[in-house]
Amino acid sequence: MAENLIEVKNLKKYFDMEAGTVKAIDDITFTIKENEVFGLVGESGSGKSTTGKVLMGIHPPTEGEISFREHDISISSSGRAKAIKRDMNMVFQDPGGSLNPTKTVLDIVGLPLRIHDMVDGKKEMAKEVYQLLNTVDLDPERFMYRRPNDLGQGEKQAVAIARAIATDPSFVVLDEPTSALDVSIQAKIMNILIDLQDEYNMSYLFITHDLGLMRNIADRVAIMYLGRFFEVADSHVFFETPLHPYTKVLLGSFPTTTKEEEKLKPDLKARGEIPSAMDLPSGCRFHTRCPFKEEKCLETEPELVEVQEDHFVACHLVNGVDDVEYDVEEVEQEEKEFEYDIEGIEMKT
Ligand SMILES: Nc1ncnc2c1ncn2[C@@H]1O[C@H](COP(=O)(O)OP(=O)(O)OP(=O)(O)O)[C@@H](O)[C@H]1O
Ligand SMILES: [Mg+2]
Repeated sequence: MAENLIEVKNLKKYFDMEAGTVKAIDDITFTIKENEVFGLVGESGSGKSTTGKVLMGIHPPTEGEISFREHDISISSSGRAKAIKRDMNMVFQDPGGSLNPTKTVLDIVGLPLRIHDMVDGKKEMAKEVYQLLNTVDLDPERFMYRRPNDLGQGEKQAVAIARAIATDPSFVVLDEPTSALDVSIQAKIMNILIDLQDEYNMSYLFITHDLGLMRNIADRVAIMYLGRFFEVADSHVFFETPLHPYTKVLLGSFPTTTKEEEKLKPDLKARGEIPSAMDLPSGCRFHTRCPFKEEKCLETEPELVEVQEDHFVACHLVNGVDDVEYDVEEVEQEEKEFEYDIEGIEMKT
């Protein structure tokens, strides 16, 4: 059984704004193991990037604990020990935005090596950067002395990755690392990331909207909604036998590759828009969009509970793998009848 690298307990991150408080992370508890790809999915605004940034120390937590190999890191980056800062890094969605346009690739990738005293002088730095560029499949001869504005999107992201792995970290947050890239280079960047994880035994917090990609790369997956985790499970369990209605809704909109998979897919839709993180619904925060909601869902917030080994679900209607109090087929039928009714009304008018 793999050791825990990161342990997060009752973590909250609230942003106080003029218009009110945004509960971007509202009490999440989870672990990331050594050498594990932990995937995080959820709609826009659910708190995924904030989770990555709080782990990295970019934002201090409002409440809760974060530990890294049993060292408390529940503080912003500036208060963390240098050895820990060296051991974790992040790759952002927008590759250009995170690279200093006035610096060369050599200086950008070499900077963390200098900050952490890992090289002795410019020559040694250049040697290290040369190797790092090779690792991310950029020809050092061609790229070392270029600046970000002379690079394509995929090349910029490769530079950001080289910088992120320069100090040989144990943990990297990948926040939608390929979503801003052309489809043709997405696969190349993903392959580099997969190879690196394998080669350097890193753990990733991998954030993406792309469920197909998630299925291919994550060992475990968590689904987030308005600051909370709704379901956490091993990837194959998450994709093959999800239990939370929200997971089912989200997977329902996910394109399948075979007819068998298509048949198994529930035909459900979450109704309406995602509510504001500043004005959360009562009880279960998903109840306003849940096709199965009952009275109790409006009243109390469900906790994330382990319904079978390593499979956690936060839903009043899920008590266990064989104890699910909602009926997908019944609701699918109701939805069909509802659509039929609407068509009937339109025809009459
Ligand atoms: N620095 C900030 N100040 C105020 N509110 C913030 C800040 N950062 C994030 N938020 C808010 O916190 C909530 C979660 O945002 P976050 O960026 O973590 O979502 P996300 O799941 O990464 O979304 P996306 O898929 O669009 O990237 C949103 O309501 C967002 O507006
Ligand atoms: Mg985000």
